[in-house]
Amino acid sequence: MSITIKDDAGVAAMRTACRLAAEVLDAITPHIQPGITTLDIDRLAAEHMAKQGTRSATVGYQPPGYPPYPAHLCTSVNHVICHGIPNDKVLKKGDIVNVDVTVITPEGWYGDTSRMFEIGEVSIAAKRLCALTYDAMWLGIEQVRPGARLGDVGHAIQKFAEGHNLSVVREFCGHGIGQRFHEEPQVLHYGKPGTGEELVPGMIFTVEPMINLGRRDIKEMPDGWTIVTRDRSLSAQWEHTVLVTPTGHEVLSLSAGSPPPPAFVQ
Ligand code: MF3
Ligand code: CO
Ligand code: CO
Repeated sequence: MSITIKDDAGVAAMRTACRLAAEVLDAITPHIQPGITTLDIDRLAAEHMAKQGTRSATVGYQPPGYPPYPAHLCTSVNHVICHGIPNDKVLKKGDIVNVDVTVITPEGWYGDTSRMFEIGEVSIAAKRLCALTYDAMWLGIEQVRPGARLGDVGHAIQKFAEGHNLSVVREFCGHGIGQRFHEEPQVLHYGKPGTGEELVPGMIFTVEPMINLGRRDIKEMPDGWTIVTRDRSLSAQWEHTVLVTPTGHEVLSLSAGSPPPPAFVQ
């Protein structure tokens, strides 16, 4: 299956799906405090999805070679890079956690977005990692326009992250999205300018860099899902779903509670 180009109706449906995913994050945000468990976060999100009339794309999600994913979202704490499974461990002051939400609308469209949350006061290093990863995502998004190439997106992210002595995870990437969760193309968060797929209006994909304080090497946990940094250094991730428009791009996964874009974004 190749890259799908969304028509006006598809774009409208994706605007809705992505906004709804972001609104799940908005709804859980006030509750993400010291003392909550990631399973509590999962439950709150499930309730909000029910209220919206969406369903989680992750419950039972089973790519080839994986066990079925057991939760409504992913919660990746500290050295967990991605795909952390909610559990009954309490979040404590100083933790950082990525919450990654993918919903399916009743019409069958997928919206995918994630944010970092700081639990109470966190270390300067953790704060810096979260902030720089946010900027890296936006620098990637800013490359998106017709005629640009996916390598431009990856390069912008890699150059910025490595320039700050951070490392970019290579094994997981952004992806096309629409009426399926993970479509072509793969959106690498590293690369060379002027290489890769050329962007065309109507493409929709995620930009979701995973960036580590230490080395880029990963390890998979025995649960078959959870990915951690091999050196146990902290890892951060942010994710937006982005549409290529005739003049540039539109970020679809924005909501009233989205953090503002960095100052360098016009
Ligand atoms: N939402 C993740 C992404 O950004 C995928 C999670 S798959 C799961 O692509 F099964 F781990 F939930
Ligand atoms: Co996601
Ligand atoms: Co994604």
